[in-house]
Amino acid sequence: MEDKKRLFSAIQPSGILTLGNYLGALRNFRLLQEDYDGIFSVADLHTLTVRQEPADLRKNTYELTALYIACGIDPERSVLFLQSHVAAHAELTWILNTICYPGELSRMTQFKEKSRAHEDNINVGLMDYPVLMASDILLYQADLVPVGADQKQHLELARDLAVRFNNRFGETFTVPEAYIGKTAARIMSLADPSKKMSKSDANFNGFISIDDDKDAVIRKFKRAVTDSGSEIVSREDKPGISNLLNIYCAVTGKTLSEAEKEFQGKGYGDFKLKVGEAVAEVIDPIRQEKNRLLQNKDYLDDVLKTGAERAERIAYKTLNKVYKKVGLLQRKR
Ligand code: TYM
Repeated sequence: MEDKKRLFSAIQPSGILTLGNYLGALRNFRLLQEDYDGIFSVADLHTLTVRQEPADLRKNTYELTALYIACGIDPERSVLFLQSHVAAHAELTWILNTICYPGELSRMTQFKEKSRAHEDNINVGLMDYPVLMASDILLYQADLVPVGADQKQHLELARDLAVRFNNRFGETFTVPEAYIGKTAARIMSLADPSKKMSKSDANFNGFISIDDDKDAVIRKFKRAVTDSGSEIVSREDKPGISNLLNIYCAVTGKTLSEAEKEFQGKGYGDFKLKVGEAVAEVIDPIRQEKNRLLQNKDYLDDVLKTGAERAERIAYKTLNKVYKKVGLLQRKR
């Protein structure tokens, strides 16, 4: 275990998880956990940057914990924990805030998008969000961070902050690499293929939720926006069909040319049905397993308790080093 490289990633418990979260992130976590020491977090502190109903947040936190396990994250092999259970995340954020500049945060695409979407609640946390994310990663000295393409800019900031701190105070942080899958790094909305598939989409037909049953999945794929013409090929002028092909390849493991060949001469209707069936086949067992795990909150609490203890040991080792480097006196015990 010792000589394996370390991997860190996190997901927000901000509601229903989508097929985009699964294909862009969770699926890769499971695959990578074989070769890396995996540390996975439920990023509940991040979620607070957008107004939450407390009861929903609690429910969604259990949902996501169960989903991680249902997707194959093994809590014995990997560390699975809640961000708010390890106070070092907030503590390191304070230190990194002192070496990060407002301009770096105000030009983040996600900050701009979320400020537009939540005009009535543009809080300091929303802007500071990428610094908390950098703390998540740097506390664990992660070598690799698997994420979807939308998190790339945040990853770059984490790298910049690591390098800046190391230059100023001496080698402290591992500079992390992003791992962005080749397929499925950016699953687009089924209702508007120019937009990322997102659970906050007001149009429920735009996203596939892990909680959608087979009928709902097929219905949404049948309604998916396609392009003019009738060819089933992946091409820039065919964003709708390209997205569906990308999803199909991601869930079946087929290559693009295999998929294009399979659907040569077929109509859009047949194609969309096949994609829907293939997606349902993948997410049905995950949803069932997630719901089974949710029946046993004691087990989930136990997993999170052990996870926090294991995470804390690593995190505080880094934080103590950081405090020492910047000149804060060590507390005598
Ligand atoms: P979040 O919760 O928005 O999304 C979780 C993961 O899902 C990926 N993703 C997608 N991938 C492909 N296509 C899509 N349509 C799609 N939508 C979402 C995201 O890229 C992400 O990998 N800030 C992060 C959570 C976080 C984190 C971290 C990640 C907190 N700390 C440290 C990595 C390292 C977020 O909000 O992801």
